[in-house]
Amino acid sequence: MLPTIKKVLLPAISAILIIASCNQTPTTPKETVIPTSDTSVFSPPDTSSIPNDQFGEMVRYGRELILHTAHYIGPEGTVGKYLGNKMNCTNCHLDGGMRPFGYSFFSSYARYPQYRGRENEVLTMEQRVNNCIERPHSGIPLPLDSKEMVAMVCYIRWIGSNVPVGKRVKGDECLEIELPERAADPNKGAQIYATTCSVCHGVNGEGKLTPDSATYLYPPLWGPTSYQVGSSPYRVVKLARFIKGNMPDKIATWKKPALNDEQCLDVAAFINDDRIHSRPQKKNKAIPDYPNIASKALDYGIGPFIDSFSEEQHKFGPFKPIIKWRKEHKLPANF
Ligand code: HEC
Ligand code: HEC
Repeated sequence: MLPTIKKVLLPAISAILIIASCNQTPTTPKETVIPTSDTSVFSPPDTSSIPNDQFGEMVRYGRELILHTAHYIGPEGTVGKYLGNKMNCTNCHLDGGMRPFGYSFFSSYARYPQYRGRENEVLTMEQRVNNCIERPHSGIPLPLDSKEMVAMVCYIRWIGSNVPVGKRVKGDECLEIELPERAADPNKGAQIYATTCSVCHGVNGEGKLTPDSATYLYPPLWGPTSYQVGSSPYRVVKLARFIKGNMPDKIATWKKPALNDEQCLDVAAFINDDRIHSRPQKKNKAIPDYPNIASKALDYGIGPFIDSFSEEQHKFGPFKPIIKWRKEHKLPANF
């Protein structure tokens, strides 16, 4: 029910806001009107409230690292060379992990250590950070006790200071996608990409470097400098959910997505289709992802699987028959 209400209410509320703001004199104090259906979205603390003590100093450094990762620990990093590419954490964890529905860090600290199916192990927050350094960034792990690792974890902890241990909050996951009956279609996705995304991310998905070549103005989406096979955004549904609330940048918002659910899935399918273009492979292939196949994410397109659906169907869908079959066999149907 809620999404329908939102669809009707939001335009109405924004219309009222626009009318109201036109009549405002400059001295009228700004009123923040939050539509009732959004009040439960978690709001992270303001950066001006970072304490002025030693912990706060680490939080500030951690935020700096998340925003300007390549500068500090990139291939030509000033404090160490750890990342294999010049992306910054904030390219995916938008606004430094503080934007709702943009791979935020809201409840991350509250949920670690946690069991991870991909490794079939319980991982600490530090190990999870290193996952992102090794996979989307194709890098080498940071020492767990390095100042940089401790700082990033302090920052992630500070963002989630008000989240009870073990809890989730609204906005810590990307927007939901309604799964269609059909498979995601990379060919349709190619058309959407050409008209909606390539202007920033490039016709070859290569992105655009800053004038000093230190990092990206627009990060790459495939090719040798993009995220690896097997990293989280390589999964079509996970990527589609991110696109829905956030891309095209500065046009789509979680309150007003620009593409519909099927378009998000199609463009995510195109971006992640290795038959059309390539991306870096996992370095250590000796250790397979999801050694326990029962916990393999449903949209992870590399077999073996606990069911008999093909790699192609796991990657592009249709997902509903897989979910149905797994439920009938009392098996987990997790994304
Ligand atoms: C106006 C420029 C612009 C357009 C158009 C745009 N993006 Fe982006 N995109 C960005 C920027 C900038 C970032 C990094 C955000 C940040 O650092 O705050 C980004 C980040 C991303 C990321 C995560 C980082 C990565 O490289 O993996 C994905 C995925 C993505 N965009 C997909 C898309 C898709 C799909 C479209 C088309 C539907 C699209 N973008 C359209 C500018 C754009
Ligand atoms: C190309 C995109 C991308 C880049 C770059 C990236 N990550 Fe991630 N990261 C993801 C995705 C996708 C997830 C999974 C989010 C989910 O499950 O909703 C994730 C998950 C995480 C998590 C676990 C969050 C949770 O709540 O479970 C942490 C912590 C994390 N990343 C830290 C980092 C750090 C630190 C960096 C920079 C060194 C980084 N990431 C760079 C895409 C990226």
